[in-house]
Formats: sequence, structure tokens, C-alpha cells
Amino acid sequence: MQISNYKTQQEKILCTTVMPTRKIPDMVEDIRESLLKKPRALSPKYFYDQRGSSLFDQICSTPEYYPTRTENKILSRYGVDIINKTSPDQILELGSGYSTKTRRLFDACQQTSNECIYAPLDVCEEVLIESAKRLSDEYDWLVLNPLLGDYHAGLGNLPASHGTHLFVFLGSTIGNFEQEDALEFIKEVYKTMCYGDHLLIGVDRVKDDDVLHDAYNDAQGITAAFNLNMLHVLNRELNADFNIDKFTHSATFNADKERIEMRLISKAEQYVNINDLNESIQFNLGDDILTEVSQKYTYQGIEEMLKQANFTITDHYEDENAYFSLVLVSK
Ligand code: SAH
Ligand code: AVI
Repeated sequence: MQISNYKTQQEKILCTTVMPTRKIPDMVEDIRESLLKKPRALSPKYFYDQRGSSLFDQICSTPEYYPTRTENKILSRYGVDIINKTSPDQILELGSGYSTKTRRLFDACQQTSNECIYAPLDVCEEVLIESAKRLSDEYDWLVLNPLLGDYHAGLGNLPASHGTHLFVFLGSTIGNFEQEDALEFIKEVYKTMCYGDHLLIGVDRVKDDDVLHDAYNDAQGITAAFNLNMLHVLNRELNADFNIDKFTHSATFNADKERIEMRLISKAEQYVNINDLNESIQFNLGDDILTEVSQKYTYQGIEEMLKQANFTITDHYEDENAYFSLVLVSK
């Protein structure tokens, strides 16, 4: 059968590279643009080398980081309903990471005998391969097509496939976009989809400040290590000499903007050389670099954004504490 031939080829697990639809700055240009001018910032996509992806995975198991277990619970509860309503021939996931929670959808596919292709898209090749290996062991019917690419570079070159598609964007990764960019991105997902396709999106909700603060300041310091890992990435990729011990993690809730802002703060006056940029940066004590925003949304705010992108809301699932939303929409 066609499917088993495909699976035999998959034993090797190769990623398909998704070519950019539009030009985005390479790492050198990007860092020059964002780090050399004030306020200093870095794109959160640079968190996710192999170590960063593993640290993120560990964050997901901390007692303080409620989003993962909450979203997982919603997916377990409504997975079958979602698969029955969407009958996907292909599940295409944006920023898939280790695809841990996506397994709840595969479990539901199994229960409903809905065999499908799974196309996870991520910037981290090691994680795509590792995750595909594990998935092919666990779900022998699942046809895997891992896609290596940057979703900021456009979705126009995602491989075409027949049948119905379920696009999946979990973990509230949409919160890591500035709000205007989030809407633009959702519109782009809409444009990429065919009529009849669905999008399942996980979005973190506005809640008690302390709960939010603790989720990004876990007692074991894993989030701090994840944040500081960005400097290891710059040292390796741009031949820089950040002294990691001279920076500290900060994550605070900005109540006006309803978002967590994660920063690296300089613990001393210091100079850092970024050799590939031919630049040296002076940091004073307390100077900061914004590494991530994590926008929190209200129930209405999420629906407004999706409707503005022209989507029709099929279902809006949430947990009993209204901590997290999982919204199923269609084009
Ligand atoms: N969806 C998973 C992982 C979330 S972590 C979950 O819910 O647990 C965010 C994921 O998005 C990481 O795996 C990271 O590598 C990926 N990612 C970040 N920026 C990206 C980009 N620009 N393009 C594609 N993937 C990206
Ligand atoms: C992937 N993203 C949605 C996570 C978040 O909550 O914003 C990344 C993260 N940053 C710190 N902890 C987790």
C-alpha cells in the first residue's frame, strides 16, 4: 500500500525545507537591527536551539507553568469532538516543538479511525527529527512529513496536499507575537487555508497576576536558564562573548498591555563583542534586552482577532478555571 511505502522511507526521517515566501533578515542582519539600537530586543525564535527546545520542554513540566497541562486537558477532553468535526486528511502544526499535546489529537484520530498525514513545521531541525522518530514508534499509522522552516518567512510554500486540512497552532505561541503582528499572522494562515479547512489555536487567557508571574519565574530556575540560553546561541552563532553569569532573567507582567515581558538584565557595566557583526556593545548595570512578550487574551479578544481575520468560530473550548482557550475555527 502507498502508505506503508511512505512509512518505510520515513525510517530515515528527513525534513522537507520550506522555502521562504518573502525575504526576511538573516540572523546577522536581524541581530544588528534589534540588538544595536535601543530598546534592545531579540526575536524569541533564537531560544530554540536543541538545548533551548529541551529547556522549554522542561518548563512545560514545572508546577508553575499551567498552560501546557491545561491545554493538554482540554485536548484530551475534546479531541474526539475536534476530529469528528474536522475529519482531517492532514494535520499541519505551526511551531510544533516535541508535539507532546498534539498526541491527544492522534489519540482521537485512532479512536475514530481517522488516518492522516502529520506535517509539523518548526525552526529546530533536531527537535523535528527526534519528535518524528518517537511519533513513528507510537503511532504506526501516522504518515509523517516534518517541515523545517520559519513561519515568519511566509506560509505560501507549505507543501500542497489533497483533502481536508486541520491547521494547529498550540501553546499560545501566538502570544509571542506583538498584537498587530498576531492579527497579520492569523490572516496569513487564513489565506493559506482552503475553504472547509479548520484551524485549532491555543491561547492563554488574562488571569491573576501572581499566577502569571509564577509561571514565568519557576522555583527551579528553568525559565531563567531558557532565557539565558539565548546568549549561548548568540555566542555560538555570531561568535560573541556574552558572559552568561553577568546577566539575569526577568519576567514581569505588564498590566497595561496584559502581557508577560521577559528580559535579560545586565548585572554589571560591561562590554560584549559580537565578532560577526564587528561590533562591541556597552551594557550599564540594569540595562536590558527584551527577549519575549507573551500576550494574554480575553475570551472576547481572542474571538475578535479570529473574526477580524475572517474566520468562522466553530467551537471555543476552555478549562474550568478559564485559564486557557482552545478555539476551533473554519474558513
Ligand atoms: N507547540 C508546542 C511548542 C511551543 S514552543 C507546544 O505547544 O508545546 C514554540 C515552538 O515554536 C518551538 O518549538 C520553536 O522552535 C517554534 N518556533 C519559534 N519560532 C518559530 C518560527 N519563526 N518558525 C517556526 N517555528 C518557530
Ligand atoms: C512558546 N511560548 C508560548 C511560551 C510562552 O509561554 O510564551 C514560551 C515561554 N517562555 C517562557 N516560558 C515559556
